[in-house]
Amino acid sequence: MSITGPRTLWDGIPVSVALEPEARREVADEFVEFSLDRFGSPDFERHTLSKREAFFDRYDAMAKPQWSGPLLDSSEFRALVTGAKPLDHADPLMSWLARATRTHVAEAWAVRHHLRTYPFSRAAVTGGRPSPLDLMTLQELYHTRMFVEVVRLFGLEFSLPAPPRALQVLIRLASRTVSHTSSSIATGIAEVIGSLATNALAHEAEELLVDHPATYEVVRTLVDEVFIDEIGHMTLALNTFDRRQRVGFRLAMPGALKALALTYYRGNRAGAAIVRRGYADFHLGLFPPQVLAQAFVPSVLLHSPRDGGAP
Ligand SMILES: [Fe+2]
Ligand SMILES: [Fe+2]
Repeated sequence: MSITGPRTLWDGIPVSVALEPEARREVADEFVEFSLDRFGSPDFERHTLSKREAFFDRYDAMAKPQWSGPLLDSSEFRALVTGAKPLDHADPLMSWLARATRTHVAEAWAVRHHLRTYPFSRAAVTGGRPSPLDLMTLQELYHTRMFVEVVRLFGLEFSLPAPPRALQVLIRLASRTVSHTSSSIATGIAEVIGSLATNALAHEAEELLVDHPATYEVVRTLVDEVFIDEIGHMTLALNTFDRRQRVGFRLAMPGALKALALTYYRGNRAGAAIVRRGYADFHLGLFPPQVLAQAFVPSVLLHSPRDGGAP
């Protein structure tokens, strides 16, 4: 399986560079401008973004392709998502759908928990300038909905369960200690892993749906929307790190990748390899050009020396 594809404009452009405080503030400002432009007006009371609402209005009105592959069983799917049935021997498409859903079950819970612990900033709620984290959080709230729509394309009906207890405890701990700013180490790790994992899911979907181009096109549209957001969150987090956070991130990342391989990627060596190789050779060219072209990439990266790109 090729993970980099043909060389692109983005090959060799790092994902982050070491920045002085003034330059880091500029990255944060650029992110706010980018988000307001791409997602339209935020409403922090109703948890909406005007252009995201318009996207879903168009999506709901659109005729969806009829799933023409094998009939998928909703109760088996639910058992795979909750872990009541192991993924190891599941049909590859069911396994893909269950893994994608599991990620978003955890994410949806984490984002809601985060909002209870760190509500939107007073400035954002009173109509002032939102912070990058306010906007990131609002964007995340739509990801769950995107993945619910993906699952529906395959005739599966399903309501999101709570993630396993142990994961809830882990999320609570991470949230309490470090994830109250967009530049926290925990946010950086989550966004890097999220982007690499989404890359693996996107590659897998392309192979699994090769005989179902109409369904693939809609899946790809939904996955790309999430992917575009995650790439932007990743470049924001990594380029607003101070020196101490950079060191902490580098030290923590190998352990986080190991934990991921042993849990989420158990029985999915191909997916684990994409994530592992991605981090070992980390630059923007790893990600699909059509995604990068729409994602937030701080201007400082585009003008920096192309020197590979370990964060
Ligand atoms: Fe997300
Ligand atoms: Fe994110």
